[in-house]
Amino acid sequence: MGRVAELAGVSVRTLHHYDEIGLLRPSARTFAGYRAYSAGDVERLREVLAYRRLGFGLREIADLVDDPATDAVAHLRRLRGLLLEQRDRAAAMVKAIDRELEARAMGLRTSPEEQLQVFGAQLYDTIGSAYPATRRTEPRIAARIWGALGDAQTVLNVGAGTGSYEPPDRDVTAVEPSAVMRAQRPPGAAACVAAGAESLPFEDQSFDAAMAVSTVHHWPDPVAGLREMRRVARRVVVFTYDADNTGWRERFWLTRDYLPEFADLLIGWPSLADLTQAIGGRAEPVLVPWDCADRFFEAHWRRPQAYLAEHVRRAVSVWTRVGPQAEQRAVDELRNDLTSGRWAERNRDLVALDTAELGLRLLVA
Ligand SMILES: C[S@@+](CC[C@H](N)C(=O)[O-])C[C@H]1O[C@@H](n2cnc3c(N)ncnc32)[C@H](O)[C@@H]1O
Repeated sequence: MGRVAELAGVSVRTLHHYDEIGLLRPSARTFAGYRAYSAGDVERLREVLAYRRLGFGLREIADLVDDPATDAVAHLRRLRGLLLEQRDRAAAMVKAIDRELEARAMGLRTSPEEQLQVFGAQLYDTIGSAYPATRRTEPRIAARIWGALGDAQTVLNVGAGTGSYEPPDRDVTAVEPSAVMRAQRPPGAAACVAAGAESLPFEDQSFDAAMAVSTVHHWPDPVAGLREMRRVARRVVVFTYDADNTGWRERFWLTRDYLPEFADLLIGWPSLADLTQAIGGRAEPVLVPWDCADRFFEAHWRRPQAYLAEHVRRAVSVWTRVGPQAEQRAVDELRNDLTSGRWAERNRDLVALDTAELGLRLLVA
């Protein structure tokens, strides 16, 4: 045990603790009665330590390493992806800090926009690599969006990401500011222009329709971006949420009981009336199906276990935006309530529902 502890750079006490809680039980004993680690035990220890370094809690790690569907290679792949993402995220933060230090050294103060940029518009350059694992077309929502596009033949998709909701039967042009997201567009996807919504590089009325899906809340100036969509297209379709209706925030158990910090993200967010006014349209509710295929923030309202999975959270910006402390606390509390049955008790009415109204809206003009 001492040798394994030394090699792994952990204390013997840590290994004892892992043994006591059943996370890593050495499979053999020496003649003298000491614990002996097999090759398989060492492999498991490597996984435990790597997930630990990524910030996972011990209980979460136990769930991960005990999952029979994940073999050693799948763990290595997942660890690699998570580490690269963490590296990219850290590199973007270092760059932003260097920029600010340089500016301060020259006696300049960076603007509030610049200070927040790394969490906003550039966010997808840091978290985007986790996106394709869980974010995909939800056919029932796609049907609503494509229906609202009417007979439009030329369609501009703003904040297009990997293109989940691009209609396959129209002439689509995509706009996406994040290089990481552009690079992940599947082969054969529509041509993609690097630009932000607030300044679309197109002539007035260039498209039959412009669409924007799950993106408006990332724009530094949503109203300006929506006006731009209105300018370049005859029809506008936007899938977003109603942030000023606090009723639904109360209704969603995740924000109500575990992540009240979500409210901070909505400060300064334009009202639904402001958003619809910017395109001169109307808002229709979009209910979230219980088995929603696009695993966005609200998608798992009837599948709470999903929020315990790191890879599910990493593809949803809310979790990065609230910060690691709030995220960890929310996940720990949810895990406890799922184990104790408290979540099921509090939310027993949900089991009978197939769809939920969680404030998602389709704006159509
Ligand atoms: C949650 S993703 C949605 C992607 C895609 N529409 C979908 O439904 O899968 C949000 C996207 O908005 C993009 N975005 C961020 N700031 C933007 C801006 N100012 N203008 C346009 N898109 C922006 C991000 O880079 C990211 O790809």
